[in-house]
Amino acid sequence: MQSMTDKKREYEAACAAAVKARNFTEAAKAAAGAADCAEILASRTTGIVSSAYSKELASWRQLAKKLEDRKNGTHAAAGTDKDGISPDGCEWLVAEKPNVTFDDIAGMEDAKRIISEMVLYPMQSPEKARALGLNPGGGVLLFGPPGTGKTMLGKAIAGALDAPFYYASGADLRSKWYGESEQRLSQLLTSAKAQKVAVVFLDEIESLLPKRSETSHSADNRVVTQFLADLGGFRDSNNLLLVLGATNKPWAIDEAVFRTGRFDEKVYIGPPDLPAREKILELNLKGAQVAEGLDFHSIAEGMDGASGSDVAAVVSAAKRSALGRAIRENADPVLTAKDFAEARERIPLSITPEILAPYKKFMEERF
Ligand SMILES: Nc1ncnc2c1ncn2[C@@H]1O[C@H](COP(=O)(O)OP(=O)(O)O)[C@@H](O)[C@H]1O
Ligand SMILES: [Mg+2]
Repeated sequence: MQSMTDKKREYEAACAAAVKARNFTEAAKAAAGAADCAEILASRTTGIVSSAYSKELASWRQLAKKLEDRKNGTHAAAGTDKDGISPDGCEWLVAEKPNVTFDDIAGMEDAKRIISEMVLYPMQSPEKARALGLNPGGGVLLFGPPGTGKTMLGKAIAGALDAPFYYASGADLRSKWYGESEQRLSQLLTSAKAQKVAVVFLDEIESLLPKRSETSHSADNRVVTQFLADLGGFRDSNNLLLVLGATNKPWAIDEAVFRTGRFDEKVYIGPPDLPAREKILELNLKGAQVAEGLDFHSIAEGMDGASGSDVAAVVSAAKRSALGRAIRENADPVLTAKDFAEARERIPLSITPEILAPYKKFMEERF
């Protein structure tokens, strides 16, 4: 008997093929089929697996609706648009505008500076950049352990630039459009290059451009070759394109990507230092009431080995315990040092020397 996951995959493939053939009636049907499968899978599973299926269900439903609209001709005219389907079919590659800013990001001074020099300044003062003969734009690879704010930085850049932002996550591209990620990526880059200014953010890029030896799928070779070809020459054109890649596993990326120098800058995003941890605490506590004299500095000090997302998780856990107490005692919720101490016990910190070692090795070998 065919499993529900297989069935879902079949619908996904059918949807991709139908979009490609511009048969939106069939595509909408297939998307609805995939949504139904995701719904059944969500009901059969529990916890994070179930919530992942629910999320997927929602995005399939949304896509099905867009395809319906498209089929009925109620969709906006051709051209990439914010939430519609671009004619080349990269509809899930959202050109969204996140509302994260550089100020929301603690630390990462190097990364912020490099990115400012590469794109923000040339965009703010194009005539000065031209006077220097400077070609703005280019490629930047952000790498480092999980939860250190790489995705967040990508979003902040898009927010800082008044430019369309193309976001694609390697894992999404590959799982949703298995065997077709090559065309999808190509389409994405083509439509970004057609813009005057654009930021392309390729998250989890290692699963998009994996090392050839680490995979047995011949399709992956083509993805890398095609990606490099698509990216070639983007600097000679008149438009301004910033390609950002982010990865937790830089060593899993195909060597060719580095050899060809498509990423002019490779920036290590490490765990937050003490002042950065303190700032992340503050950022996440904005608006919340804290006990008088609560010492952010010492809380941050006690979190050596935390990633930015660990710090955020500790704050959330502390807030939950403060809320529980406020309800029990029928009082206003106020965060205390005890809430943080308890939260710290519950949340393991993710940055260990073993986690950091491969990044060090990678930097020694590559730079
Ligand atoms: N430097 C930072 N400043 C502020 N918040 C951070 C920082 N690093 C991580 N975070 C928090 O952790 C979350 C996860 O970060 P994310 O950007 O997804 O990490 P990555 O992409 O490196 O795995 C963010 O949404 C944010 O709440
Ligand atoms: Mg990320």
